[in-house]
Amino acid sequence: MQPQQLQLIFDEKRGMENNSTMPKKWGFRGNSEFKPEPQTTIRGAITLLESNLNQSDNRPVIPMAHSEPSAFPCFNTTEIAADAIADAVRSTKFNGHSPTIGILPARRAVAEYLSQDLPYKLSPDDVFLTMGCKQAAQGILQVLAGSKSNILLPKPGFPYFGYFAQLYNLEVRYFDLLPEKDWEVDLDSLVAVADENTVAMLIINPGNPCANVFTYQHLKQVAETAKKLGILVLSDEVYGHLTFGENPFVPMGVFGSITPVITLGSISKRWIVPGWRMGWLVTHDTNGILKEHGIIESIKGFLDASTEPPTFIQGALPDILSKTKEDFFSKIVNLIKEAANSCYEGIKDVPGLTCPTKPEGSMCLMAKLDLSVFDGIKDDLDFCLKLAKEESVVILPGICVGYESWLRITFAIDLSSLQDGIKRLKAFCERHSKKA
Ligand SMILES: Cc1ncc(COP(=O)(O)O)c(C=O)c1O
Repeated sequence: MQPQQLQLIFDEKRGMENNSTMPKKWGFRGNSEFKPEPQTTIRGAITLLESNLNQSDNRPVIPMAHSEPSAFPCFNTTEIAADAIADAVRSTKFNGHSPTIGILPARRAVAEYLSQDLPYKLSPDDVFLTMGCKQAAQGILQVLAGSKSNILLPKPGFPYFGYFAQLYNLEVRYFDLLPEKDWEVDLDSLVAVADENTVAMLIINPGNPCANVFTYQHLKQVAETAKKLGILVLSDEVYGHLTFGENPFVPMGVFGSITPVITLGSISKRWIVPGWRMGWLVTHDTNGILKEHGIIESIKGFLDASTEPPTFIQGALPDILSKTKEDFFSKIVNLIKEAANSCYEGIKDVPGLTCPTKPEGSMCLMAKLDLSVFDGIKDDLDFCLKLAKEESVVILPGICVGYESWLRITFAIDLSSLQDGIKRLKAFCERHSKKA
């Protein structure tokens, strides 16, 4: 074909004018699914709030929207983890690609680490390594998506589960957590929204955004309810062991013989290294049900098609998991506990805000906004936008976690910044309170 003829075909396909160098219509456009409303992802919401900061306020910005304490030196990770990474890099043994499910020593290390809290031993074959807990969540939602499938998510919850589900055409149905009952799952509301197309339910334990820790008894009831419904339990345990109240952390895998359980976790929170992107997806399938139903094969298929965590971080994982000393863990838990208590007590003095339960785990809590106390504040998003502008304090509006007229407040920052943040929050609420 002559070049002129080819040009004519191009021109016709793109509706180009003769002699014009531009087509009338480009053949591509961004996928609108990837342009969520700001409140659909926490990062989107934070970007929106930060764009409202007053650049001429010289005070430090207090970041109470993002559970990311690594910026504060008191939350530095343990030297043992840093040494493990350096050793793995220097060894030159981890410069190549890893298998897509992760290298065996790292999977074995995760199996051993998690088995310490289980009544049975996990095998490395139950463990799949991922780029943080986030990729584990993304993967399992993709695996579970089917033509008519639906998944049950908690309300309030963690927004990206809903976001990913929507992306993969997995219908989302919400069940309630009960603030007056330590944010337990409302099992009646769960059963009410389930049907024959329900594939799974999610719990987040310790809880984000509610700072609750489920009891053994309640988790057992969750497992029994899931079994009756014929669904699996997804348990996001990224905050595993970050507990400081009465209830100890009980992994959902303990109930894997009642109903199939898949746990999602990472070193992001307990080791305060979210940037290392090292997580896992673990199947607790003592009765072989997940295998029988093709879930294990699909997980492998998902991982074959995605990116594995950097091999040197996998190489460091056995040392990180087995050599970290108890005093590092207790130092971190004590810092978070002190901050949580200070936040909870501080909120008691803030007009228009109440916190229904004392935080017991994770890094953030939910506080209820009584909008009738304020003048000129429309809703929780309006509250947070004005707070950012006037006080340089960034707090997440409840709408981002599916709970209007509430706030999600991250307390895991250094204590003096937190206390400054609560002081500014109080000043803001007093200033905007209706005058008697
Ligand atoms: C409940 C919950 N799950 C998962 C994640 C993501 O964890 P990772 O950084 O390991 O991907 C977070 C991060 O804040 C979280 O709060």
